[in-house]
Amino acid sequence: MINMSVDIGGINLKNPVLTASGTFGFGREYSGYYDLSKLGGIVVKGLTLEPREGNKPPRIAETPAGILNSVGLQNPGVEYFIKKELPFLREFDTAVIANIAGSTVEEYCIMAEKLGSLVDGIELNISCPNVKEGGAAFGVSAESVYNITRKVKEQCKVPLIVKLTPNVTDIKEIAVAALEGGADALSLINTLLGMAIDINSRKPILANAVGGLSGPAIKPVAVRMVWQVAQAVNIPIIGMGGIACWQDAIEFILAGADAVSVGTANFVNPYAPMEILEGIENYLINNQFGSINEIKGNIRL
Ligand code: SIN
Repeated sequence: MINMSVDIGGINLKNPVLTASGTFGFGREYSGYYDLSKLGGIVVKGLTLEPREGNKPPRIAETPAGILNSVGLQNPGVEYFIKKELPFLREFDTAVIANIAGSTVEEYCIMAEKLGSLVDGIELNISCPNVKEGGAAFGVSAESVYNITRKVKEQCKVPLIVKLTPNVTDIKEIAVAALEGGADALSLINTLLGMAIDINSRKPILANAVGGLSGPAIKPVAVRMVWQVAQAVNIPIIGMGGIACWQDAIEFILAGADAVSVGTANFVNPYAPMEILEGIENYLINNQFGSINEIKGNIRL
């Protein structure tokens, strides 16, 4: 029997496979495909204090190996989530992690307070590239990462996971700032800032001109950043960015991730998280490992 359980800064996951924020809604659509209790955890769509309609369309553009999005944090607001979506998610035996975003530090703090211990963890989204105020602006300097992490941590009753943006010069410096601010765990990476242009209209395809690139195209960048961060900090890491099959997930874990989040792949193959989970387990069996923790960071250099 393989031990697949992992501890993400105090959140006990039965297995290391989560679904990434913004690609799984609040779980309802996917619950028709498989039993959500089989997941290690669900990270819900980014929540804000008030409901948001998001950016103007078009806000999705397909690219050769991924998608660009400029959704702009469309969501029903934290209170609606607590009243109407969380009870549904709680029907399943899986960890529920609330991704929160805001325009000010105070907004993040109020949301953390409102969520209290209703969820298993909070993912601090300081990495959304699609909003004019807040979002990734909080995540690009070590000083602001430290400050926001410290302030939100004071309000948190559950473990705090800080989600990092790859749109920085030195990801290690940012990871250390989150650690020093009190992060219990890190998740990385969010999307890479990108752009696509329609050559006939000569206009950007996204109404917002630029957006976040996700999917297989960004996987090598994400693996590199997880590897660098794993050497710089001693808190758990949830790795993500282009994970589409179990081999991708193993790469992240060998690079130093404790768990993985499946994101864009959900849009292509709703069963991807289940296939990835099965593939990880078979890899461990075939290579005579007794637990998932044995391969964490087990890269040969
Ligand atoms: C969005 O809603 O714009 C994407 C969320 C994110 O990048 O964190």
